Amino acid sequence: LTLLSCHTCKQIADNFIKGLDQTKKQNFGGGNTAWEERALSKYETSEIRLVEILENLCESSSFDCNHMVEEHEDHFETWWFKRQNKHPDLYKWFCIDTINVCCLNGTFGPDCNACVGGSERPCHGNGVCDGDGTRGGNGRCNCDHGYKGEFCLDCIDGYFNEIRNDTFSLCTECHSSCKTCTGLTNEDCEKCKTGWGEDDEGACLDVNECLNDPPLCKEDQYCLNTDGSFSCKGCDKVCSGCTEAGPDKCQSCAPGYQDTEGTCTDVNECEQPDAVCTAGNQECVNNKGSYICICASGYEEQEGVCVTIPEPEEHVDL
Ligand SMILES: *[C@@H]1O[C@H](CO)[C@@H](O)[C@H](O)[C@H]1NC(C)=O
Ligand SMILES: *[C@@H]1O[C@H](CO)[C@@H](O)[C@H](O)[C@H]1NC(C)=O
Repeated sequence: LTLLSCHTCKQIADNFIKGLDQTKKQNFGGGNTAWEERALSKYETSEIRLVEILENLCESSSFDCNHMVEEHEDHFETWWFKRQNKHPDLYKWFCIDTINVCCLNGTFGPDCNACVGGSERPCHGNGVCDGDGTRGGNGRCNCDHGYKGEFCLDCIDGYFNEIRNDTFSLCTECHSSCKTCTGLTNEDCEKCKTGWGEDDEGACLDVNECLNDPPLCKEDQYCLNTDGSFSCKGCDKVCSGCTEAGPDKCQSCAPGYQDTEGTCTDVNECEQPDAVCTAGNQECVNNKGSYICICASGYEEQEGVCVTIPEPEEHVDL
């Protein structure tokens, strides 16, 4: 609730400044006489201008905003007529010092205490202080990516401290081969990531999992090595085992396919010298990788054999 109130208050203060700007050139009404000039100077600090600004502080749909403005209408009057010269920053005067829903940047909570790491650079510039600038929160740090620890000075795994003292820390990402490191290159790893192995000089290099014996992929797959990993991809369906994608990268052809100049192509079983559909009245239909036997036209299958389709019986009137 306190976080929300401060947010609402900040929006109100921002909109007040916008309202000031939008009413800057206005006056009580057209014309440009000497009388109007005097009127203009009066409009600047008039109740009419204040009311006009107050009317436009909130979206009509925003309950929180309208509620807050209504509740504190007299504060706006006080500031407008008596405080704005001495306290020109409405946000600070209203939200922080008068209705006490916000705090100065770098501080948090009911008493506006300093955030972890100090109010100057909360979280040492490497995180967000919980409740920063509001009367809520606990002042602790949510560190930015790469940083950890109460003060956001330590680096997470995969990052190293490029610069570090008691109040300042810069964590930089390690080389992609390192789990932990002390510098930028693959020679600065303390530990290699999985998928990477140390060479003789202690640098982390990609392990080619595709050279593994026994192979890590299934028989109808080929292996694709990548930095730090590998993947198994399906072979073309015309292959029985393969080295890469495509019908021309088969180790051998799948049943129903034959090697034609290095590419596996469909065998047309129906055109082989020895007939494959041998039962009576059958005819052969080729398809990819196989064939089927169907009854020839004029015949239909009954109990596994192709028989003549009976002629419709003629009706004979007696
Ligand atoms: C306070 O912090 C907010 C949010 O980070 C920022 O927009 C604003 O400019 C800061 N105000 C001051 C006075 O530094
Ligand atoms: C810590 O390092 C930062 C950045 O290099 C520097 O500005 C600051 O003065 C240093 N502080 C101390 C206490 O050495």
